[in-house]
Amino acid sequence: MCDFTGQLAGAGATRWMAAFGAEIIRVEDPARLGKWDVLRGTSPFVDERRGHEFGGCFNNHNVEKLGITLNLRTDKGKELLTELIAECDAVTENFAAGVLERLGFGYDRLREIKPDILYVSNCGFGHAGPYRKYKTWGPIVQACCGLTFTSGLPDMPSAGWGYSYMDHHGGNFMAMAIMAGLIHRSRTGEGQWIDMSCTDAGATMLGPAVLDYTVNGRPLRRDGMPYSNRGQFPAMAPHGIYEADGHDAWLALAARDESDWQTIAKLMGIDDRRFADLAGRLAHEDDLDDAVRAWTSTRDRFEAAAELQAVGVPAAGVAKPVDRVDNDANTEAWGLWPTVTHGEMGRVRVDGIPAHFSDTDWVLERGGPLLGQHNRQILGGLLGYSDADLADMAAEGVI
Ligand SMILES: CC(C)(COP(=O)(O)OP(=O)(O)OC[C@H]1O[C@@H](n2cnc3c(N)ncnc32)[C@H](O)[C@@H]1OP(=O)(O)O)[C@@H](O)C(=O)NCCC(=O)NCCS
Repeated sequence: MCDFTGQLAGAGATRWMAAFGAEIIRVEDPARLGKWDVLRGTSPFVDERRGHEFGGCFNNHNVEKLGITLNLRTDKGKELLTELIAECDAVTENFAAGVLERLGFGYDRLREIKPDILYVSNCGFGHAGPYRKYKTWGPIVQACCGLTFTSGLPDMPSAGWGYSYMDHHGGNFMAMAIMAGLIHRSRTGEGQWIDMSCTDAGATMLGPAVLDYTVNGRPLRRDGMPYSNRGQFPAMAPHGIYEADGHDAWLALAARDESDWQTIAKLMGIDDRRFADLAGRLAHEDDLDDAVRAWTSTRDRFEAAAELQAVGVPAAGVAKPVDRVDNDANTEAWGLWPTVTHGEMGRVRVDGIPAHFSDTDWVLERGGPLLGQHNRQILGGLLGYSDADLADMAAEGVI
């Protein structure tokens, strides 16, 4: 695949394919040191070194990919890209809408080069409609699609989700789009353009709020709403994140039904007629939460979770990074944090893939590519240029 993706919303998509063995050839701009993808040179860093080879997230999002440089402002760069596309099954990108077309590689041109090419673009609003020209970042997408408004505590401003959720989700959606396009292509031999709108991908996560407005005419923000810790769709109580013993220590628990509630009440010694049924617990939810908190706040979060789990109630200590990354026997057994080798950073842990295949599992061993690291392999090995040609191209600023 000829891959122009960047950040997580794009690079996170082709990462999936790379992990399962696809040859993903990242094309980067040598003139700007590949920094269209800002993550190339931004934190976290593994040590004191800085620059476009040291962005920790870039490494994570581009594991197992190959990387070449092509300056598409030059005729030679365009010629090389044309030759590369002729060898590829798919072209993927998450530039702003219209960028690839301006570079001379819109869908019509792509299919002239390779009639069965799959072209997948992913931008904020897709390539149609009045907003198509707007550029976006994950948090902007979250705000536009409505996700930001759904999250927070009562009578407080919208809180957002605390991180760029739509980068993860956008990348996952794009991976699905690519796979669906490739399946269709392998069945029929037909390529096509899949034009993805990240904002609309975000909107698909608003089901209950959209339904509530459509059917009941109710706005999302009203007395007591939203209350992101509480189980409002469907209603559950108690449901939330409760203080545990210790600094910044928390416990999550949910009473899915009356059986869970009775078990919780017995374990915690809560005996209050107001909480006898769900309607009563919802009507007195603040007092209910206080009663639960009285039990949780004197206990270690993991021990309390184990006690609740032992009697069948869903509960967990709220994990901090150190818990998940360094001290979780389950993620370790699963292999969730494989170590890859990066050309400059050395051995670095990255995200694994949360699904294991019994026969054709993923492999993550190679770190993200250095800028132009695979020019010789791809432009020489695949397209047939000699080392002397490559030296000329470098001197002319093409690669
Ligand atoms: C992320 C984003 C906001 C960055 O905006 P930007 O830095 O202005 O970048 P654009 O995508 O608009 O344009 C990229 C530029 O790099 C140029 N470029 C990229 N690769 C190149 C190459 N190999 N050679 C020459 N030029 C290249 C493009 O020609 C374009 O320049 P132009 O605007 O002069 O035509 C924008 O790309 C975007 O909205 N993407 C879609 C949504 C998204 O995925 N956001 C990031 C996830 S949070």
